[in-house]
Amino acid sequence: MSTPRADDQRIRDHVTRLGELHPPIDPASADYSMRDVAAVRDRFADVLAYMARVEMEVERNVLELAVLLPGSSDVDRTFANDVWSPQEERHGVLLDTLVGHLGLPPVQADLDTVSPKVRLLGALAHLPALHEVIRLLYYLTGAATERSATIAYQSMSASLAEMGEHALRETVVDAIKAQEPGHFAFYRLSATHLVQSGALSPWQLHLARFLRSRTFGPVGANGAEQRTDSGAVLVQLGLEDRIEHHVRDIARVESQLLWAQREGMAVPPYALRAFREAAERYRERATRQPALAA
Ligand SMILES: [Fe+2]
Ligand SMILES: [Fe+2]
Repeated sequence: MSTPRADDQRIRDHVTRLGELHPPIDPASADYSMRDVAAVRDRFADVLAYMARVEMEVERNVLELAVLLPGSSDVDRTFANDVWSPQEERHGVLLDTLVGHLGLPPVQADLDTVSPKVRLLGALAHLPALHEVIRLLYYLTGAATERSATIAYQSMSASLAEMGEHALRETVVDAIKAQEPGHFAFYRLSATHLVQSGALSPWQLHLARFLRSRTFGPVGANGAEQRTDSGAVLVQLGLEDRIEHHVRDIARVESQLLWAQREGMAVPPYALRAFREAAERYRERATRQPALAA
């Protein structure tokens, strides 16, 4: 295991490199020409609406972070404000523009409401012992979110290739997809460093396990309606068929850091349950409102 000092430096170097290698995507580089607009719209309407909203709401996530972790470190702030947020905001711009080209309704994103839950956690985070627990949960959420995004974009990219929509695939979806693994690596490195440095005592790790298992949700899903919407992404991208495989991938960092002592817990049951429930909710809604379930 590396010393904490070396890990700090490694995380710092990673953030610097990400900023240098991945400037925010230039909107002018995106080519929205399509062979069959209707086919792309039919295939991805709900998926794009969901992904565009989540990418755009990064603006709110930055506000939430300031409330959630009042004592965040320089490197956390540099990553969030100077690297992650500018990149993600452009992902939102690209997807929102694509939604417009497809003739779909404008994306409804909440850019500035910091939820009472975040405010409560932020108040608790003023206590140093809880700050570190919340920091770990923030990293784990980030890792799961970024892996989810990569999996979704990989699936979209493969479908667009099959459909012969090469311009859209290369200049929009693949361009975004290329930036997500660096974000994942930041959260994975940060979570791993926090746990391996021994900064968290057994009761803090126990609390982190408890809170994580009670609060886990699919990426970008706040409330029942959005959880159902997230099910549309799973179902329409065909991810449901190998859900256990995908959830194992999405939850790998927390499986290793929080649940290593539980042999065989390759897929945390709370994570699998959350994704399965989202898919089921979407199917239920589709049965009730077939017109919305294209
Ligand atoms: Fe993104
Ligand atoms: Fe990302």
